[in-house]
Amino acid sequence: MSANVGAAMAPPLLALRQVCRDFATGGEIVRVLDRIDLDIAAGEMVAIVGASGSGKSTLLNILGCLDRPSSGSYHIAGQSTHALNSNALARLRRERFGFIFQRYHLLAGLDALANTEMPAIYAGVPGPLRRQRALALLRRLGLGERLDHFPAQLSGGQRQRVGIARALINGASVILADEPTGALDSHHGAEVMKLLTELNASGHTVVIVTHDMQVAGHAHRIVEISDGRIAGDRRREPAVAPSRPEDARRPEAGATPVTHTHAPWDRMCAALAAAARSMRTHRLRTMLTMLGIIIGIASVVSVVALGEGSRRKVVREMAALGTNTLEVYPGPQIGTDTSAGIVRRSSRSLDSVRPRTSCSCPESQIVASGEMFASIAARSPARKAA
Ligand SMILES: Nc1ncnc2c1ncn2[C@@H]1O[C@H](COP(=O)(O)OP(=O)(O)OP(=O)(O)O)[C@@H](O)[C@H]1O
Ligand SMILES: [Mg+2]
Repeated sequence: MSANVGAAMAPPLLALRQVCRDFATGGEIVRVLDRIDLDIAAGEMVAIVGASGSGKSTLLNILGCLDRPSSGSYHIAGQSTHALNSNALARLRRERFGFIFQRYHLLAGLDALANTEMPAIYAGVPGPLRRQRALALLRRLGLGERLDHFPAQLSGGQRQRVGIARALINGASVILADEPTGALDSHHGAEVMKLLTELNASGHTVVIVTHDMQVAGHAHRIVEISDGRIAGDRRREPAVAPSRPEDARRPEAGATPVTHTHAPWDRMCAALAAAARSMRTHRLRTMLTMLGIIIGIASVVSVVALGEGSRRKVVREMAALGTNTLEVYPGPQIGTDTSAGIVRRSSRSLDSVRPRTSCSCPESQIVASGEMFASIAARSPARKAA
């Protein structure tokens, strides 16, 4: 049995069943994808074509687990994505899919090598392996001389090749490309399509969204979308299947298979290095951010200092009034109407008070702060006592 027949009989790698995608806009629900049924086998090269706004990117986003269907089911290699939470979907995306965008979406502050390495950092690939793999990919894609060039120093075609290297760094078996040649001239566009065709020949499943029929002509199968529905699905020739299924998971350029590590130290170093690079690249932004932080910290320190100063002042003043103050409250309780005649005495005069507290009112009390608490059985109103 030939590999192609084998591919036709194999269960689909990506399977959409009755998938709908609705968006709520302006108070009404707009159905962008309408009951899509689509199977894509491992090793196929599929072009999704259609007019602008027909739902191509929406479909690609669902295929790449960047979005979820509003209804219907999506199975990847037989596994339903319905019950997967966002972390599980992120893991699936990281391990299985590589994305190529029309506008490249490279990080301006990172050179070609660092941009390529970026997904591997999130995948927890150890530093040396990550670098080795990125170097191999970039050299294979003809960018060996441009490793330390920033995106602004690269041509459109070179940027897109960096984008392709980045898509492959984690050994993605499925390449999802949204208008990969949309921002390129015909020469660079042809170059990128040649690369995608080679990747497909080496076992990668490739799905390309395009409105350019010349680009779609590189694919073995063309799926046409119109108003969110599949309007046509034709094969130019049977899909090229990988000779061994695991080939599709194999990273390019002789890189060793993806190895994940959860070494926090390695990830921390990579994150710090990326942060330092970003700070160096965006100096003005960094300075303004630091200024904001300094002003914030200075404000907090000032407020705390003012509060503490005020507190100490009050404490000092209270201490001056302090432990030698005697307060005499007439009446049954503090705070009642009868407490109007509060009398204060210092400790020096306490003795002079005591002899005179022969008031007849049993409810009267003498209160002193600190150690000098005195409770005197009063027999006359405190006011008189004072
Ligand atoms: N998040 C969203 N909210 C509301 N409407 C959306 C959203 N995303 C897409 N749409 C709508 O869905 C429709 C299809 O969008 P999509 O991006 O899939 O089109 P497309 O076929 O890729 O078009 P193009 O070729 O211009 O890129 C459009 O009418 C768009 O306005
Ligand atoms: Mg689009």
